[in-house]
Amino acid sequence: MNGVTGRMGTNQHLVRSILAIREQGGVKLPGGDTIWPEPVLVGRNETKVAALAARHGLSRWSTDLEACLAEPELTLYFDAQVTNLRVESVKRAIAAGKDVYCEKPTAESLGEALELARLARAAGVRNGVVQDKLFLPGFMKLKRLIDSGFFGRILSVRGEFGYWVFEGDWQEAQRPSWNYRKEDGGGIIVDMLCHWRYLLDGLFGGVNAVSCLGAIHVPERHDERGKPYAVTADDAAYATFELQGGVIAQINSSWATRVYRDELFVLQVDGTEGSAVAGLRECKAQHRVNTPKPVWNPDVPNPHDFRAQWQDVPDNAVFENAFKVQWEMFLKHLVTGAPFKWDLLEAAKGVQLAELGLESWEQRRWLTVPELVL
Ligand SMILES: NC(=O)c1ccc[n+]([C@@H]2O[C@H](COP(=O)([O-])OP(=O)(O)OC[C@H]3O[C@@H](n4cnc5c(N)ncnc54)[C@H](O)[C@@H]3O)[C@@H](O)[C@H]2O)c1
Repeated sequence: MNGVTGRMGTNQHLVRSILAIREQGGVKLPGGDTIWPEPVLVGRNETKVAALAARHGLSRWSTDLEACLAEPELTLYFDAQVTNLRVESVKRAIAAGKDVYCEKPTAESLGEALELARLARAAGVRNGVVQDKLFLPGFMKLKRLIDSGFFGRILSVRGEFGYWVFEGDWQEAQRPSWNYRKEDGGGIIVDMLCHWRYLLDGLFGGVNAVSCLGAIHVPERHDERGKPYAVTADDAAYATFELQGGVIAQINSSWATRVYRDELFVLQVDGTEGSAVAGLRECKAQHRVNTPKPVWNPDVPNPHDFRAQWQDVPDNAVFENAFKVQWEMFLKHLVTGAPFKWDLLEAAKGVQLAELGLESWEQRRWLTVPELVL
């Protein structure tokens, strides 16, 4: 597990996925066997990686990726490094014949993302990429509504993602500073449009075109050492997508907005028969028979409690951490050959949308999303 001392590596992948799987006794298979992940933590900084291993009672760690890749018993390479180091490391792992599982975005350009998918296919290694939002309870409940036919004909989708990321001067920033430097692989378009691609593809069946306007709203921030730096990467993106069947989707993504909504990401879906609003955990719905009839009249106090007119979609299931759910599916794929569709080619589609988003911003025009072939 490389890059495991980072935010995502430690919290989501090591603690909430791999260690949680070990705590529950591994991944049980129908035939009675159990998959038991035995991680080797890899990082650049010996002190940090050794401390992380010790904190979690793990004995195996290294600062030498090449040596780990040379060990035949280590069959899977996992990568949660900063984005711009991913391509080179994943290539090395593929060349060493390792299966690969990694964070998104897989690369900063479509060319490189496709190259990884091609190399993995040619080497015959299995591969998967984190597409966590699909496995969040709120979006799994939304998928349930879609599959049930609840919406009738889906008309439009509107998403609002973001929160205020502190500038790092008088309060520490809650995201790493490389996120705000283009030259270090940062930018909200590269970061978020790959999430929106798999989410829109997975829920509504395909993105045909994109128009995106980026912005650098906060031009100066302070880094981890308190030093001021110029922001060179977009910290907000205002994007519109045309989806299969003519559905229109708009998603705002911003690290320079303050939250007045129920969750950090909410997606409203409007259909002829009903509407729903899904977030990370919750999903609320309003059927056409429960739809109120508001009338525009600013001269009287608003007579509607609009939020109270929606119904919770019940869990009806136990939802686990989204990263862990996907890890378990990938581990089963490795061991039993169970299908797993979120591979390096699927992830390249996310990089493609991000790249087109940046181009659309630069050229100030709509762009068609071509089909990807290996
Ligand atoms: N799936 C998601 O929802 C999600 C959310 C946030 C980030 N990510 C992705 O996960 C990856 C890691 O993001 P993060 O937020 O954990 O970042 P982070 O800065 O907290 O961690 C980065 C990791 O890369 C290592 N690293 C190697 N060289 C580095 C360098 N020169 N500068 C900084 N770090 C270096 C660090 O030691 C650390 O282990 C990124 O590719 C990011 O796009 C995914």
